[in-house]
Amino acid sequence: MTNVEFERVTVIGAGTMGAGIAQVCAQAGAAVTLNDVSQDFVDRGLGTIRKFLDKGVEKGKVTEADREATLSRVEPVLDVAAAVQSADLVIEAVPESLELKNDVFSRVAGHCSSSAVLATNTSSLSLQKVFGGIAEPGRCIGMHFFNPVPIMKLLEIVRLQSTDSGVVERVQSFAGQLTKEAILVHDSPGFATSRLGVCLGLEAIRMVEAGVASPVDIDKAMELGYRHPMGPLKLTDLVGLDVRLAIAEYLDEELDSPAFGVPQLMRDMVAQGKLGQKSGQGFYDWSD
Ligand SMILES: NC(=O)c1ccc[n+]([C@@H]2O[C@H](COP(=O)([O-])OP(=O)(O)OC[C@H]3O[C@@H](n4cnc5c(N)ncnc54)[C@H](O)[C@@H]3O)[C@@H](O)[C@H]2O)c1
Repeated sequence: MTNVEFERVTVIGAGTMGAGIAQVCAQAGAAVTLNDVSQDFVDRGLGTIRKFLDKGVEKGKVTEADREATLSRVEPVLDVAAAVQSADLVIEAVPESLELKNDVFSRVAGHCSSSAVLATNTSSLSLQKVFGGIAEPGRCIGMHFFNPVPIMKLLEIVRLQSTDSGVVERVQSFAGQLTKEAILVHDSPGFATSRLGVCLGLEAIRMVEAGVASPVDIDKAMELGYRHPMGPLKLTDLVGLDVRLAIAEYLDEELDSPAFGVPQLMRDMVAQGKLGQKSGQGFYDWSD
C-alpha cells in the first residue's frame, strides 16, 4: 500500500459521482469500499469504473496492470455498518436531498470510528444542515467533485466553521494524491462553483427569453469572447434543466438575490420535459 493520506475510504452511493470518486481514490492507492442500497446499483457502479478504465487502457493512458490493481482495490459492501467500520474517510455521494443525506450521516456516524473524516459531495446544500447533529463536527467537510470525476481537475473543498484545520490540510493533501487541483471555500449556499455557474446560466436563459440573441450565439459569446470551454446554455443542457432549476430555487431562497430568480422559460421547459441532453431536447436538439 502507498503512503496515501486516507488508506481506507468508503464511498456511499455508487452512481455517477460515487463510481468516479471510488475510482480516483483506488487509483491513488486507497482501499475503497463502495456502498449502495442494492447489489444492482453497486454492480452498475463497478461497471462504470471498469468501462472508464478500459477506455483509459485503449487510449494508452492507463496500463493493464493499473486497471487490475485499481479494480482489486474497490470492494462492494451493501451493509452500511460493515462498509464504514474501518474507514478513515467516508465520502457521501447519494442524491441531492437534505433528508437523505441526514439519514445517511446519522447511520454512518453510528458505525464508524469517531476519528473518521466525514465528507459530502453535495453540489449546493448547506453543510451545516447536511451534518446537523453529528458528534465531533471538526471532522466534517465538503469534497465537491465534478463530473466526470476521473477527468475533471477541480476539487472544491468546503469547510464549515467547525472543521478542524488539520482535517482541511489532510483533505488538501489527499486532493493532490488524487491529482486534483483543490480550492478552499467556506460553507455558503452554492459554494463558489454552483453559485457562479448557476448565476451565469440563469442570466443566459433570461437573455433567450428576452430575445437578445439565439442560444447558439449566447454560448458563442462566452466561448469565443471569454474563453469559456462551453457556453452556459449548452452546460445547462448537459447538467439537466431540472437539476439546475432545483439548485436555482434553493439559492434563490437562501441568498435572496434577484440573480437567482428562476426565469419562466426555464420552468416552462422543465414542465414540458425539455430537460436537455438526457431528454433529447433543451436549448439544443440532442435527439440524434
Ligand atoms: N452528477 C453531477 O454532475 C454532480 C456533480 C457534482 C456533485 N454532484 C452531487 O453528487 C451527489 C450524487 O449525485 P449523482 O449524480 O452521482 O447521483 P446518482 O443518482 O447518479 O447516484 C446516487 C446513488 O446513490 C444511491 N443511494 C441512494 N440512497 C442511498 C443510501 N441511503 N445509501 C447508499 N446509496 C444510496 C443511489 O442508489 C444511486 O446509485 C449529489 O449530491 C449531487 O448533487 C453531482
